[in-house]
Amino acid sequence: MNNNEVIKHVRGESQFIDDLKLPHDILYGTVLTSEIPHGKIEKIDLGNALSIKGVVQIIDHHDIPGENQIGAIIRDEELLSEGIVKFAGEPILLILSESLDSGREALKEIKVDISPIPAITDPRESFRAGNLIVPPRTFDYGDTDSAWEKCEIVAEGRVESGGQEHFYMETQASLAYPVEKDSVKVLSSTQSPTAVQKTVSGILGIPMNRVEVDVRRLGGGFGGKEDQATPWAAMAALGAYITKRPVKIVLSRSDDIRNTGKRHPFSSDFKIGLDSSGKIIAYEATFYQNCGAYADLSTAILERALFHATNSYYIPNVRVTGISCYTNLPPFTAFRGFGGPQAMFVIESAISKAATEINMSARKIQEMNLLKEGDVFPYGMVTENCNISATWKKLEEKFQVEETYKKIGEFNRKNDHIKKGAAVMPVSFGISFTNKMLNQAGALVHIYTDGSVSVSTGAVEMGQGVNKKMINVAAETLSIPSSRVRVETTNTTRVANTSPTAASSGADLNGMATRSACIGLVKRLRSVAAKSMGVDIDQIKFESGKVFNTGNGQSIMWEELIGKAYAERVSLTSQAYYATPDIYFDKTKERGKPFAYHVFGTALIEAELDVLRGVYKFNRVSIVHDTGKSLDQQTDLGQIEGGFIQGLGWVTVEELLFEEGGKIITGGSSTYKVPDIKFIPDEINVEMMQDLKNPYAVLGSKAVGEPPFMYGIGGYLAVRECLFAAKPDVQLKYDCPLTPEKITISLM
Ligand code: MTE
Ligand code: MOS
Repeated sequence: MNNNEVIKHVRGESQFIDDLKLPHDILYGTVLTSEIPHGKIEKIDLGNALSIKGVVQIIDHHDIPGENQIGAIIRDEELLSEGIVKFAGEPILLILSESLDSGREALKEIKVDISPIPAITDPRESFRAGNLIVPPRTFDYGDTDSAWEKCEIVAEGRVESGGQEHFYMETQASLAYPVEKDSVKVLSSTQSPTAVQKTVSGILGIPMNRVEVDVRRLGGGFGGKEDQATPWAAMAALGAYITKRPVKIVLSRSDDIRNTGKRHPFSSDFKIGLDSSGKIIAYEATFYQNCGAYADLSTAILERALFHATNSYYIPNVRVTGISCYTNLPPFTAFRGFGGPQAMFVIESAISKAATEINMSARKIQEMNLLKEGDVFPYGMVTENCNISATWKKLEEKFQVEETYKKIGEFNRKNDHIKKGAAVMPVSFGISFTNKMLNQAGALVHIYTDGSVSVSTGAVEMGQGVNKKMINVAAETLSIPSSRVRVETTNTTRVANTSPTAASSGADLNGMATRSACIGLVKRLRSVAAKSMGVDIDQIKFESGKVFNTGNGQSIMWEELIGKAYAERVSLTSQAYYATPDIYFDKTKERGKPFAYHVFGTALIEAELDVLRGVYKFNRVSIVHDTGKSLDQQTDLGQIEGGFIQGLGWVTVEELLFEEGGKIITGGSSTYKVPDIKFIPDEINVEMMQDLKNPYAVLGSKAVGEPPFMYGIGGYLAVRECLFAAKPDVQLKYDCPLTPEKITISLM
């Protein structure tokens, strides 16, 4: 079974916003943004822009009928700047024109005079200046202060991790239509249809029921369209509302890279203490989160970083602090893992450093400290169905980890110009939105009189295969072939008040709601069948598109039953709602059970380095991942491999660079490198552990979207091993991405 979107993508049949046929009166939105990272707008001179043929209107913040505000968690961001700009790429004017070309011409005509204000790009500097979004947060567990003296060795250090461009295939896109009087319909490539609806309602000053948001699919989101699809959709809606003509805004790749936020760079300090056997006694870390110019989702991302500060390890004394720092870079945002990768990179660096100092392999320290059933996380959650050791052991068995390390040692003794290295990377990732409120979902299921089924949920398809999973859940629950089920667009008029499709919980939450809606239908249909066959309800069985009387083996087709139900005036529509039970968190104490469950897995990454040229490659990657009972194996395999490669890119070749003042240097595909087909490891083995069923998600499955990203961190550690094999006294900071340039320099 396939992620059925894929076939359409390959054939070019899938429609994205930029593929849609446009109405004859369409207008194109072109956005004029700040060239300067921080400054005060002194004067805007439109020049001859308005007399260019095709230019219809130029909109600034004065034209906004409602509130000029798009901040989702903290109300700190204007849609169109009112005077102070805080990053290069901040929107100032919206040009509406009948062709894209005339919009671009107008852009050249307009002169914006901005007097610069000193810009800050370093989060530590911003911290010293007191430029924080909210006060720092600390998770404190055990007694760290007194624990240090019990340690045999204490290692300290600093860790840097870079930003990451989402590089989704489809850039930010929206198309807004005026609808009758004072209403709008917005097509948006957003992970958060309700957030778009709410923001458009605020910008236009109209109630939410006059804003309809519809999403067919995204050409990738990866978190980059959780919050940051909203401004472009709001601008399109604003243009449509004001001109009463449809407005389309699709960003060019370079505008998308320049104007939108990415993964947060982190600068962190750590201190780790071990006893002589390698047991971790205490761990301290401080994360300086580079948030960029506006809060966006930063505080939520920082919170998840704190939750994942100890990755897969039990540590009895922990103090981790997170600090959200404003800087004059684009507002950094959600990206697969949502702060988890940054935090895990720090603890893995700490273990690596401790391993060197205690002269023990990092792998041994990792293994010795793995979470066990009943262990407590530093935020008070007790581990349950803890499968981390099971995945670790399975990896060892299936992929001969010990043997691999031995062979690498032998290889390195015999070879000078090529050096090999390996690393093991365990991952434990919490599933649920850390904001409890968001852990809810709805579904609406219709059965039409021909027996075909239509499913609507709040989940957005972005390549992760959630539609295929919803089809499988509905088909399984209704006992009909999956070809009879269709998933509709995600639309705010069909399923309201949706949470973003994010936090890997799209399939979990919407799958539960879909299952529950289908169970409601089955109940009704069972009565219809029992009545029509003249038997008791419990003698009715649904199977493979048929309905059986188990008493005598007689059956009728699903379609026939649906005809009977309709004739009897039994409703063939069902709506259902799901809210994750038993999760809570007390921020005043920083204690609670924020997650429904954890996803576990362990990866072995093997790398080799060409010592003369500083280039490396990955020979073999082996992943044992706890999928629960997979809702769709091909889809999950794709998520595990794709997530891993994206994580590998983050720590190795994807380098996001800004000029001293804050302008982006890596603003296109020629300067920003993402993993390509040649970068993919020669061999990728994925072992899905499906026997460890999960009671907390739909049909025993587990969320899969984000956790595999963090196996990528093992790629960094493996290349580091190669480098140390080449030059044991190499001076190398814990700083990702570990690009070939950095390696070459360190080998000199
Ligand atoms: N896979 C593809 N192909 N495209 C994407 O945009 N986004 C990732 C992950 N996998 C993404 C993806 C992110 S960041 C999340 S949170 C989850 O999918 C969201 O989908 P889910 O909740 O249905 O797993
Ligand atoms: Mo994913 S970063 O939660 O959209």
